[in-house]
Amino acid sequence: MLKGKHIILGISGGIAAYKSASLLRLFIKAGAEVQVVMTPSGKEFITPVTLSALSGKPVVSEFFTANTGEWHSHVDLGLWADAMVIAPATASTIAKMANGVADNMLITTYLSAKAPVFVAPAMDLDMFAHPTTTRNLNLLRSYGNTIIEPASGELASHLVGKGRMEEPENIFKVLDDFFSRRDELKGKNLLVTAGPTYEKIDPVRFIGNYSTGKMGYAIADEAASRGAEVVIVSGPVDIAPSHPSVKVVKVESAREMLAACEEEFPSVDCAVMCAAVADYAPAECAESKIKREDSEPPVIHLVKNPDIAKALGQKKRDGQKLIGFALETDHEFDNAMKKLRSKNLDMIVLNSLRDKGAGFGTDTNKITIFTADGKETAFALKSKREVAADIIDSIINL
Ligand code: CTP
Repeated sequence: MLKGKHIILGISGGIAAYKSASLLRLFIKAGAEVQVVMTPSGKEFITPVTLSALSGKPVVSEFFTANTGEWHSHVDLGLWADAMVIAPATASTIAKMANGVADNMLITTYLSAKAPVFVAPAMDLDMFAHPTTTRNLNLLRSYGNTIIEPASGELASHLVGKGRMEEPENIFKVLDDFFSRRDELKGKNLLVTAGPTYEKIDPVRFIGNYSTGKMGYAIADEAASRGAEVVIVSGPVDIAPSHPSVKVVKVESAREMLAACEEEFPSVDCAVMCAAVADYAPAECAESKIKREDSEPPVIHLVKNPDIAKALGQKKRDGQKLIGFALETDHEFDNAMKKLRSKNLDMIVLNSLRDKGAGFGTDTNKITIFTADGKETAFALKSKREVAADIIDSIINL
């Protein structure tokens, strides 16, 4: 998939820079054109001669060629690229990218690049674990950049931990997958519900649950990265999509979520119901704060909330796909199949709370997918982004 693609390979000053030569070779062997851009300290770790010989192009590192005064246009480079990969990305380069500190050619090129950006951090474990690195990586994610997580293992310091740049073969695979998948859902519209719902008791209290929205947002990002137009109807959460084209409609209660979904559903090809919708809501929301009194505690009468998935299942037209989730603690299979049928779903994603690492608040999930035609596929424990990719693959198979 990389044949003919224009790739900028940014190399900053870390020990892992020696691996960049292997990465470059993989890109060249796959038929890509690669322009290497190095930071000044990158050149201390690997010579430009090696990289220009492998890429067949002079390495760019300075704003000007000193003896001729020729200007190296980071703007042109940024427009030329189909993708930019920064590997290794040191803590300092990540900080400069996150904050626009444009004091070298790699950062000016990054700021000018219109193409997707992939960042492969490499640093010592304590530097990687430092809150400033976490914050800067989150900033890069919020700009839509893809972070290729470092691996755990022995580091240059001989300490063992997370911070070792991902192997060139795996970085190559991320890029190859990106180009082979990015148009898979082009022209398709997706609705994803995510997060909890809050059902008001009074102006300061609500009934809610522990859902963080991570799974739904990961599904939305994955679908958008494959070319879909995505809207998330989201309950109250602290996260944002990392893909810039994902639209978010914020709601609070189940009723508001239903209204937003009913508005979006007619124009989508597929809806993925990932929200943890509260099953019940207080029959009435007190107008003022309920006061603690010495008398008996108040009794809150609950009424049933609408079943959003079921409501959409009843309106589903030919060709539209409806995907549900089931979070179960026991009788998992029977409960999941019952939900699939009663809500008129085409596919249901089961997570069992008996599996360690599955469910609310974790960064991982372990799922089994059942389709309406009786197929069952169990997956291993994976990151929520990888789980999202499996779910999107299964939807495409539908
Ligand atoms: N769902 C929904 N609206 C609701 C309740 C659930 O859209 N009011 C959706 C969820 O987003 C999920 C699926 O239905 O995709 C199953 O949700 P779950 O809470 O597991 O099922 P319930 O039908 O609420 O059944 P129970 O809580 O009794 O297990």
